Amino acid sequence: MSTKPTLTSTSGAPAPTNRTSQTAGSRGPVLMQDHQLLEKLAHQNRERIPERTVHAKGWGLQGHFTVTHDISQYTCADLFSQVGKTTEVLSRWSTVAGERGAADAERDVRGFALKFYTEQGNWDMVGNNTPIFFVRDAYKFPDFIHTQKRHPKTNMRSPEAMFDFWAGQPESVHQVTILMSDRGIPETPAHMNGYGSHTFSMWNAKGERHWVKFHFKTQQGHDWLSDAKAAEIIGQTRESYQEALWNMIEQGKFPKWTMYIQVMKEEEALETDFNPFDLTKVWPQGDYPLIEVGELVMDTFPENYFQMIENAAFNVNNVVPGIGFSPDKMLQARIFAYADAHRYRLGTHYEMLPANQPKASKVQHYHKDGAMRFFSNDFGNPDAYYEPNQYDGPVADESLQEPPMRIDPEAVAARFDQEESDIDYVQPRALYERVLSDEERDRLHRNMAGGMAPCTDGVKERWLTVLKKVHPDYEAGVRRALETGEHGDPSLPVTDDTPIRAAE
Ligand code: NDP
Ligand code: HEM
Repeated sequence: MSTKPTLTSTSGAPAPTNRTSQTAGSRGPVLMQDHQLLEKLAHQNRERIPERTVHAKGWGLQGHFTVTHDISQYTCADLFSQVGKTTEVLSRWSTVAGERGAADAERDVRGFALKFYTEQGNWDMVGNNTPIFFVRDAYKFPDFIHTQKRHPKTNMRSPEAMFDFWAGQPESVHQVTILMSDRGIPETPAHMNGYGSHTFSMWNAKGERHWVKFHFKTQQGHDWLSDAKAAEIIGQTRESYQEALWNMIEQGKFPKWTMYIQVMKEEEALETDFNPFDLTKVWPQGDYPLIEVGELVMDTFPENYFQMIENAAFNVNNVVPGIGFSPDKMLQARIFAYADAHRYRLGTHYEMLPANQPKASKVQHYHKDGAMRFFSNDFGNPDAYYEPNQYDGPVADESLQEPPMRIDPEAVAARFDQEESDIDYVQPRALYERVLSDEERDRLHRNMAGGMAPCTDGVKERWLTVLKKVHPDYEAGVRRALETGEHGDPSLPVTDDTPIRAAE
């Protein structure tokens, strides 16, 4: 007798076979009564779920976050309440545009999503590896994403569409500069920073609110790939990130990040010369220094990718008492988008799937029933299924109310154009002029030229006009690279004098 466990049907009955159909005679047709075969084929038809509309290709790990510095003066959030406090975390990193089977080493912004399973419920930090974004009004987001996805007729990616959109949307130039810089293709997810990107808020036990930005700085350093190196890697494997993360965990080289916040007093937001709620802007670190908070260590490979990473539902709405939103228009729109996407992609009770279920807090609410209601929510008393009730059903804790957010008393409801202005060029200029070295600028010119090489002259000229507003040298450098063909087009041979610091 076999010592292996017995195969069963999905209803638990021992299965006599997993190989041989029941047929009328050895050469005969299959009998419909072989319901296990029907079940097996039917299940296969349901193995795929819709991929994420953006950020479809992703990689994830499990780990934990430990507080190293006290920030209780800014937040009463329990996860930051004590130095040494540790919280379990699920991460998912992703590219934005590629489909679920896309190659990992493509030039793209990377998603950087973290789910902190805190004792006050899940806090999701759903950011990117860039501190800013391409657009600052949600009306523009679906159009932007269309330019990143496939052309309706050619069914190919379209640089013409990308640069056409950006040229008509110069607020994008800050993010496009980062995308075309070395950081546009991190060597692995471990070699990049994560940012909350939006301005969020924190409030403390005294009910004082501060605006904050979240930063997760890589402790591995910023290793990156040139276009040519990335093309070589993609020729060998499409899964370079998944492989790298697997190897890191197998070898015990757990990737780590240091968490910082930037803090702005609530009233100060009215005084800055840039809009601190504009997602195309950073807060200069000289004015708003990084304050260290803790360390993130990702040390565990999930047992089941689909269950923990594909089924993960990260949501900017998942905040905990002490952390809140800000007036950022894009953030406000995201508050709608994620839960809607999750209901479509995963179903009504997506929050009770293993990846999303709170691990350190108890879920107690009065939502009832629905498709796939596989958990109980009876609080030990089935009579307490509405609220208010005479029983001991859960009640709201009013002490956790967010302090009132001051709104400009003069505010009127209207559509306020956030048109292009000089201030849109100040920060990309600082990046270009002050932060990047000569070699980094040179590679930026070449990468950008490579990206726009397939575009029509009209689109090229419109984009070059935007670059000129950032810095004349920027425009001149990209134009030169376009004219000489010394650009990041991976189909071109890499010359010996091409400065490459990319990971070998
Ligand atoms: P700082 O000199 O204080 O900081 C420069 C920042 O730029 C550092 O955080 C550095 O990250 C980051 N950086 C370096 N190379 C790149 C790159 N290729 N792509 C993206 N970021 C990069 O300057 P400021 O705070 O005054 O900001 C100047 C400019 O730096 C900004 O306009 C913005 O473009 C960029 N930046 C600013 C950030 C901020 O939060 N203020 C964050 C990231 C970028 P690291 O320390 O990890 O090397
Ligand atoms: C994923 C919408 C802006 C980061 C998604 C998804 C949607 C979406 C629908 C798929 C969710 C899912 O199926 O699980 C939007 C909208 C935006 C916006 C409408 C603007 C109005 C942003 C910005 C950032 C961001 C600014 C970063 C700062 C992410 C990340 C994911 C994601 C990291 C993947 C999460 C994961 O790993 O599961 N977005 N997004 N998005 N978005 Fe956004």
